[in-house]
Amino acid sequence: MIVILTGAGVSAESGLGTFRDKGGLWSRYDLSEVATPDGFAADPALVHDFYNARRANAAEAEPNAAHRALARLEAEADEDVLIVTQNIDDLHERAGSRSVIHMHGELFRTLCAACGARWDAAPALSTADACPQCRAAAVRPDVVWFGEMPYHMERIVEALERARLFVSIGTSGSVYPAAGFVAEAKAFGAATLELNLEPSDGATGFDAGRYGPASEVVPAWVNEVLGSAR
Ligand code: NAD
Ligand code: APR
Repeated sequence: MIVILTGAGVSAESGLGTFRDKGGLWSRYDLSEVATPDGFAADPALVHDFYNARRANAAEAEPNAAHRALARLEAEADEDVLIVTQNIDDLHERAGSRSVIHMHGELFRTLCAACGARWDAAPALSTADACPQCRAAAVRPDVVWFGEMPYHMERIVEALERARLFVSIGTSGSVYPAAGFVAEAKAFGAATLELNLEPSDGATGFDAGRYGPASEVVPAWVNEVLGSAR
């Protein structure tokens, strides 16, 4: 099994901003105001505006060659391929990937903080929205904020245990628990590879790395994997 962790870098060339690169989202917005439970409690309208803008941006974006190559890998490899993404966009699915775990949630889903109901997001959420199930005015984007528990951790750890190869693509490796997956996969016996624009802070934790834009590096790597299996 191949387990692939993706981050904002895989969607950068689709026009979605990354977080920590120069000019990234966290240099323009205060993370504690827009991506924490306390920020949402203090100013829900501001948080809705932030995610509404990102949803509009993501809705207009198209998958790039990296997303498409990963979908092809899943379709054509003779072993299981699982994508664990920190991204809240839906570009992996729109490129055709089927096994995708959204550990930080999904921009196009809505969550009721009161009763736990989930449903597809309207183009814009507002503080006037009520939950269709319990009517509470506790509607939030179904995304994981700092200080909250990422989703599907049990399934992810099971996959890391089975992986023969762990590949990290387009992530700075600065947010845990995702940043710890490479060490976990290694401890379970997997080979590890980083594909990123440049070596991340955690690059030395990988067996190997290849650097350049995801739209070039990822298709080249997928071609090699599929080619060598034939
Ligand atoms: P985090 O706040 O994103 O929290 C990670 C979450 O994962 C926590 O809720 C934790 O309970 C959960 N978790 C950890 N291990 C788990 C496991 N094995 N299974 C299930 N859940 C698990 O993470 P953090 O490490 O506190 O912060 C990460 C990064 O956030 C920092 O390195 C920094 O880059 C960034 N940060 C930036 C700012 C800022 O720029 N102002 C502020 C805060 C954090
Ligand atoms: N191709 C490949 N890699 C790229 C490209 C590109 N075209 N452009 C940027 N990168 C790389 C950067 O070099 C950087 O290492 O992608 C990485 C993006 O890192 P971050 O902006 O930190 O994004 P990410 O790792 O996904 O952030 C993790 O932080 O705030 C949160 O919840 C949010 O899921 C997100 C998490």
